[in-house]
Amino acid sequence: MNAGALTGDGRAVQLRDGNQLPVLGLGVWQVPDGPVCVNAVRWALELGYRHIDTAKAYGNEASVGKALRESGVPRNEVFITTKFYPGRQDPVAEAEASLRRLGVDQVDLYLVHWPQGGPLRAWPGMEQARVRGLAKSIGVSNFGADDLGKVLAAASVPPAVDQIEFSAVHYRRGLMDACRSAEVVPEAYSPLGTGRHLSNKRVTAIAARAGRTPAQVLLRWCLQHGLPVIPKSTHRERIEENAQIFDFTLSEEDMAELDALDQTHGTDRALERHWWR
Ligand code: A2P
Repeated sequence: MNAGALTGDGRAVQLRDGNQLPVLGLGVWQVPDGPVCVNAVRWALELGYRHIDTAKAYGNEASVGKALRESGVPRNEVFITTKFYPGRQDPVAEAEASLRRLGVDQVDLYLVHWPQGGPLRAWPGMEQARVRGLAKSIGVSNFGADDLGKVLAAASVPPAVDQIEFSAVHYRRGLMDACRSAEVVPEAYSPLGTGRHLSNKRVTAIAARAGRTPAQVLLRWCLQHGLPVIPKSTHRERIEENAQIFDFTLSEEDMAELDALDQTHGTDRALERHWWR
């Protein structure tokens, strides 16, 4: 099966290394460690999510692990992503520390969180983490088409995923296309614009027409472009609402209207500015 192809049930995409990434995950960026994070992850697992996206930089891996254990959902049914913090030196040592905090033997996906120090700096260590079985799949995040090209040219094991800021307002079409032609699956973070796009007039009008909520419309837009999504919420009812995106379809006209909200001019860049420089 080709990288990016949907599985038969439409709930996961195929990665180039043979693993499968569930198209809906709970993101926990900016969710405080402790009960707030434990509850959000536990609710998500109760509500059928089988994919949780965390990072060393979020400071909440221990809460993700706690919720996973308390949920009773078998480890092998949940896809867990964490990320190498590029301010640190060694992706292997950092993966071991993440696994200890999460309380698991292996993560499903381990990403370079951003290309600090250059796109190639962390990659040999990421490959080592995979060889040692610390991560099933490895990839990158916040890498633009240029960065991605450099990693692909040098890698023994190419990245399976590039997790990028992606939404109707940040429709990075050039980057999405560059990922696709390199068999790298683009994955959308901040699909709701960290909440800002929910009150967009165009989005609310389409939602009213479809009899859906603005969040569902924005998430469905990503899915119809073939991108897995990881919306963040700490509210049970919103976590539930964000999972109800498999039982409706946006029309071609709705998709085109949402595409037109793009403010990036279809860029192949991952970010408008680099926060680590
Ligand atoms: P909260 O965590 O308080 O529920 P993104 O996924 O783009 O980062 O957006 C996350 C933001 O959107 C958070 O502030 C979250 O708030 C809010 N949010 C997530 N889902 C919904 C929803 N279904 N309705 C309204 N706000 C939502």
